[in-house]
Amino acid sequence: MPQRTFSIIKPDAVRKGYTGAILAELDRAGFRIVAAKKQSISKPQAEGFYHVHKERPFFGDLCTFMSSGPLFLMVLEKDNAIADLRKLMGATNPANAEEGTIRKKFAGSIQENAIHGSDAEETAAFEIGYWFAGYELI
Ligand code: CMP
Repeated sequence: MPQRTFSIIKPDAVRKGYTGAILAELDRAGFRIVAAKKQSISKPQAEGFYHVHKERPFFGDLCTFMSSGPLFLMVLEKDNAIADLRKLMGATNPANAEEGTIRKKFAGSIQENAIHGSDAEETAAFEIGYWFAGYELI
């Protein structure tokens, strides 16, 4: 059964010109792009998206970074999409990411780590609904 997950190509990767290369990695791994949009987001929008991290020390910096320039919001689909995307992304900290992963190739730091992917079904549902309306997902 195909499963949907939510992903962001983060502002660091867009700024460095890695968008096409990351989309190619996703394509090669068998993800179908259900929906995608390039936009800049406000700091309050970033804070709402990352609300589960609001008590973390990096929360303010993270939301400033995420609102620092254009990013790509995406809904991706394939069998086992959530776990497979996490594997393809690699560890949050690129220093710990395995060879061949997107973060190993394209991320600069634990914060500016090139890509986001939902970590579970409930978070994917929240994150897709936060950024996309139903009519954009047909
Ligand atoms: P992401 O998968 O989008 O989920 C939360 C984000 O917070 C994470 O990727 C990183 O960009 C950031 N993050 C997580 N841990 C840290 C940390 N220890 N220091 C700074 N940023 C972090």
